[in-house]
Amino acid sequence: MTENDIGRFVGVDVVDLHHPRCADKATDERFTSRILNDVEQGALAVASDPNATLWRLWAAKEAAYKVVSKVRGKPPAFMHAAFRVDPPGTFSKDDFGRVRWEDISMVIHWHQVPGRIVALAWNGLIVDEAVEWSWGAVDELDPEPGAPIEAILARLTERERGPVHSRSSALVRLAARSALASGLGVEERRLEVVCGEGPKGRMPPEALLDGQAAPADVSLSHHGKWLAWAIRLVEPRGPARSRPAGT
Ligand SMILES: CC(C)(COP(=O)(O)OP(=O)(O)OC[C@H]1O[C@@H](n2cnc3c(N)ncnc32)[C@H](O)[C@@H]1OP(=O)(O)O)[C@@H](O)C(=O)NCCC(=O)NCCS
Repeated sequence: MTENDIGRFVGVDVVDLHHPRCADKATDERFTSRILNDVEQGALAVASDPNATLWRLWAAKEAAYKVVSKVRGKPPAFMHAAFRVDPPGTFSKDDFGRVRWEDISMVIHWHQVPGRIVALAWNGLIVDEAVEWSWGAVDELDPEPGAPIEAILARLTERERGPVHSRSSALVRLAARSALASGLGVEERRLEVVCGEGPKGRMPPEALLDGQAAPADVSLSHHGKWLAWAIRLVEPRGPARSRPAGT
């Protein structure tokens, strides 16, 4: 079965490397042996920057899990070690990799700058895809910094507000909705980023256009001071490497 039969999905995961929980985790063997398989642990052992390698592997697994949840139609139990990441660098010199889970194969594209890493995942085999994404700091993307969260929530529809559980969770939906509007070439007021029934923070987001499934998939991520979002159009606008919008 091809991605055309099962759907074209995208997953994004951002890691704030300055978040206190990210510090020195590469030496925490209990943690690394729980989330990494033998090959990945080997890659970590020889890495020049083990902490960055660890969080690259982590981000790839999280982004891939988001794709798998949509391919399967509902989120499976998340066992990090079952997501097998080709060690970074072996698949491509251009920061592409691959993650496999059961019978699903996904392309991974990492982007790393000081202090943060993002991994994008999409099902299928094509590296040259027009997967659109971006990232930014919470403070910079907040249209009303310092205002109560209700001011942000007021910019979302009732359906969009349902799954929101934090300011970042609200802000990343605003950013993704705006990206969808420009990606699909429609007015933003026609779009919504909603979620199916389920526990908050555990359900894939979905894009709606005029209340119906939009011809695009959407993925969200927030960690520490960073937000990231990605969209994958049903009809890609043409081959282009996955790059952050505006670069
Ligand atoms: C998917 C998951 C990994 C996201 O983790 P996180 O730390 O919140 O990470 P991020 O900020 O990067 O992503 C959050 C966004 O991902 C999206 N998301 C959540 N669950 C998703 C899923 N299953 N598939 C796709 N996207 C999902 C949501 O849009 C969410 O945004 P929100 O919290 O504002 O609603 C988390 O929901 C998870 O761990 N789920 C599995 C739990 C599980 O199986 N436990 C059993 C272990 S045995």
